[in-house]
Amino acid sequence: MSPTQDSRPAGATTASADAPTGDPAASTGGPPPLEVRGLIKRYGELTAVAGVDITVNPGDVYGYLGPNGAGKTTSLRMMLGLIRPTEGTVRVFGRDPLDTVRALEGVAGFVEAPTFYPYLNARRNLEMLAAYDGHGASERIDQALDTVELSSRARDRVGGYSHGMRQRLGIAAALLRAPRLLLLDEPATGLDPAGMRDMRLLIRRLAEQGMTVVLSSHLLAEVEDLCNRVAIVRSGRIVYEGEIAALKRGAATAYRLQTTEDERALAVAGAQPGITDAHRDEHGRIVLTVADEAAVAALSRALVEAGALIHALAPQTVTLEDLFFSFTEGDDHQPSSGLANGAVGTGGASEAGEALAAPVPVAR
Ligand SMILES: Nc1ncnc2c1ncn2[C@@H]1O[C@H](COP(=O)(O)OP(=O)(O)O)[C@@H](O)[C@H]1O
Ligand SMILES: [Mg+2]
Repeated sequence: MSPTQDSRPAGATTASADAPTGDPAASTGGPPPLEVRGLIKRYGELTAVAGVDITVNPGDVYGYLGPNGAGKTTSLRMMLGLIRPTEGTVRVFGRDPLDTVRALEGVAGFVEAPTFYPYLNARRNLEMLAAYDGHGASERIDQALDTVELSSRARDRVGGYSHGMRQRLGIAAALLRAPRLLLLDEPATGLDPAGMRDMRLLIRRLAEQGMTVVLSSHLLAEVEDLCNRVAIVRSGRIVYEGEIAALKRGAATAYRLQTTEDERALAVAGAQPGITDAHRDEHGRIVLTVADEAAVAALSRALVEAGALIHALAPQTVTLEDLFFSFTEGDDHQPSSGLANGAVGTGGASEAGEALAAPVPVAR
């Protein structure tokens, strides 16, 4: 079974397959775009970030995923050199972002929402930022506006912009610095479906141009769709770091079985080597846990030989959302209720492509 097949809703793109691999071997050498070790941030009694280790490789679209209050914005602030870690280190292309201004060359992004002068138009805002930034930033204004598809609105006051337009202008502002690493804090949060789609397309375009992107999100569908690698954060700690495909592959061992003779099929499956569990779920459907694909193939032959002909033998792909809940349950600092619609199951396998997170507004 292919881990990425059958795992997303019809019409959605196959991000895991399309996403850049982030293979360090594909890099040109040199320090990784982002390396975080033992990162801690305390505010008095409160530990906002409780020991984060991540490595972002060239070409990664890296998802920093967690519920509200998990410490995403605080982490990104430290990665951008906006606040000082209590403990631990951040290295951006091998440099400490707090050391020198030069350490932030090649890096751009924003946390929470980008800020602009509302009474000035987009181009004027960018011109002011470019003048401040120097380094040929003003020559990049046209292209940046073009990339974020705001060229035709560049003479409109930013005060009249939609949230999505403002987010895109924030990315344009970041692009003025010609970054090789782009750090975005919940870029799609609060956008309407069209705005989210535009944001996803934009991030994918930037990644295709070779930019390494780190984006935080509490929206699983977004990360699942866009990112090749993910860190799942809970209460300031990383509970998983790695490839989304590997995460899903590790979890996708459940199959649903439907035959012409289900009673017999259940008995056959129960006796079959490599089928580690066979039972009926609460709807009376047969659910199997399998050791590997070979066991599934052997089972299909055994079923036919036993006269139980197969209507369906379907992998129950665990979505990132299922995984997320299994990792973030029991979070005693912050309820995870702000994460996604509450109707989602708790770590069990769900029907392929079902139950992806619906966007929810975030209280800030
Ligand atoms: N400047 C601050 N002073 C005190 N507490 C803070 C500060 N910034 C963030 N926090 C707290 O740290 C925790 C993590 O916040 P944040 O990084 O904003 O989470 P996220 O972005 O994942 O929603 C929260 O409990 C938040 O209230
Ligand atoms: Mg935040």
